[in-house]
Amino acid sequence: MKKPFDLHADYQPESFVFNKAYQGLAQDAIARYPQERQQSAVMPLLDLAQRQVAEEGAKATPVHGGWIPRAAMDHIAEVLDMPKVKVYEVASFYSMYNTAPVGQHLVQFCTTTPCWLCGSADIVNACKDHLGIGMGETTKDGKFSLMEVECLGACVNAPMVQINDDYYEDLTPASMVEVLETLAQGLKPEIGSQTGRKASMSAAGPTTLKEEAKKAKVV
Ligand code: FES
Repeated sequence: MKKPFDLHADYQPESFVFNKAYQGLAQDAIARYPQERQQSAVMPLLDLAQRQVAEEGAKATPVHGGWIPRAAMDHIAEVLDMPKVKVYEVASFYSMYNTAPVGQHLVQFCTTTPCWLCGSADIVNACKDHLGIGMGETTKDGKFSLMEVECLGACVNAPMVQINDDYYEDLTPASMVEVLETLAQGLKPEIGSQTGRKASMSAAGPTTLKEEAKKAKVV
């Protein structure tokens, strides 16, 4: 479920500029494109704006996560000399760009068929019950938001969620709650499979090339 995109909402800040560090990163991103194609940097610049807001949000009270205010999109349009509406179009199309405020940890549930068959509905319910919020909502302390997305490309390790930049896979309701509790304590949970399997190898362990698997220390 994509969050609402409201350019006139009262949470929109008056202004946005890249700080010194992000300005440097933005210039590096722009320089990767040929002179007459530099508007293509719109996607990396939107990502940088979202990351800067996330860094600021980690120090705010209550905390918040990364999102892209209208002022940031307008600033990017100005930097890249392109119509504002084109920046709005890109930002509002992709689910990785948050165009409204979100919690510090944005929990994105894949509920597409493979994850659903492996129990994503139980994972969603475990989170809702544990945090006391519904889909598209944010906890009062600003720490968590819940969002539903389509396949995140980790179907072999279903059910899974993406939280900010990280994937948590092979989840059960209990391991999902453990991940949330670890994040709430300000710690970093182990990313990837929560059952300890390596990458996307068979859940039952190697079924062939067993000696090779031992040599590669994946069993
Ligand atoms: S269906 Fe969930 S990652 Fe593909």
